[in-house]
Amino acid sequence: GKVAVLMGGSSSEREVSLMSGSGVLQALRSQGVDAHAFDPAERDIGELKKEGFARCFIALHGRHGEDGTVQGALELLRIPYTGPGVMASSMAMDKVMTKRIWRFEGLPTPDWRMVASADQTRAAFAALGAPMIVKPARDGSSMGLTKVEDASQCEAAYALAAKYDEEVLCEQFISGDETTCAVLGEGRGAQALPVIRIVAPDGNYDYQNKYFTDVTQYHCPSGLPAEEEAEIQRIVEQAFRTLGCRGWARADIMIRASDRKPFLLEINTSPGMTGHSLVPMAARAKGISYEALCLRILATASL
Ligand code: DAL
Ligand code: MG
Repeated sequence: GKVAVLMGGSSSEREVSLMSGSGVLQALRSQGVDAHAFDPAERDIGELKKEGFARCFIALHGRHGEDGTVQGALELLRIPYTGPGVMASSMAMDKVMTKRIWRFEGLPTPDWRMVASADQTRAAFAALGAPMIVKPARDGSSMGLTKVEDASQCEAAYALAAKYDEEVLCEQFISGDETTCAVLGEGRGAQALPVIRIVAPDGNYDYQNKYFTDVTQYHCPSGLPAEEEAEIQRIVEQAFRTLGCRGWARADIMIRASDRKPFLLEINTSPGMTGHSLVPMAARAKGISYEALCLRILATASL
């Protein structure tokens, strides 16, 4: 049947989603899938039913796409979709909610404070120490993120994050290796792909360096000791299951330089699929082409 590739949307990651979606669309078509682009920011999502779409590949990022709202609409329309369901999507979009659950389940995540003002941000900085990351609780692609090294930066960091979300998160910065690890597969059988180690110039894997420059180095195989790689994969699979994820997702992990302890930062339930993106890179390291990856993700579509 017809497949809709949901792309675009209304979040701050719209441009990224358009890049992800066009890659997916092209790949599915090249494999003989009757795939069509559908932008829920421009059209009524109910049209998916009227137009007879049998399944949806969600290539939306951020709010109103990755956060359970579109998933909820598709549940009501009874159209199977890729990626985690309503509750897991909704929890994973909120980095604070995610961290609370992981912490409760004994999974390692950096210490944090939620803040609602510049004053509270300064208090968080006093408690958490330097450096500290200030970011919107529900956004992606490093939008609105500041690495605070000095208390004088707190005010501007809070103001920037608050532009993206009324919920602002301050998190202890873990200095060390930046890594990411995807999980792919049906339901409980979902398994971690190889770990990618990211080396960005000056450690700034920001929006520009994620999508528009070629200065970031990606290592896959990661070059990490085999036990560290296996430990990350184990933690990420657990992080995925604990939130009730299914289909696919990608978690970001920092390995602390001082003791090599891994810390989970967040999990993305509709990871980027652009030419620069990480899940396609990890899949390739396992011999799975971009086209085959798109088909595998589509095959996990469910209600
Ligand atoms: N939020 C972006 C799309 C990612 O995690 O890949
Ligand atoms: Mg993210």
